[in-house]
Amino acid sequence: MPDTSLANQRYSVTIILLNGEKHVVEFRRHAYNNLMELIVNELYENIGDCKGHAWCGTCHVEVVSGQLDEERNRDESMTLAKLPNTVASSRLACQIMTDELIDSMVFRVLGDV
Ligand code: FES
Repeated sequence: MPDTSLANQRYSVTIILLNGEKHVVEFRRHAYNNLMELIVNELYENIGDCKGHAWCGTCHVEVVSGQLDEERNRDESMTLAKLPNTVASSRLACQIMTDELIDSMVFRVLGDV
């Protein structure tokens, strides 16, 4: 009998890296603490200097397709406000949970420059 529990469901996101490469990455719900860790682990992108504290801005991403339910938190907003390349749909990947709510979304890594 197939396992249909949420924990074993597979989801995917498309990540566009700084060099323009586009990758579709599959993940299980909460297999990573957040989207930054998924990007670092799966695509070896050099981001995440503050380890997910929303301080460094290196995990800055743009939501290209899809919608996040959660608003930016205070630390995320403050960090994004300091970056020179923030756009309306900017988020910090370390503040985005890897669950079914981001399934099929597309994110572009913008970094902190
Ligand atoms: S890892 Fe530093 S802001 Fe996300």
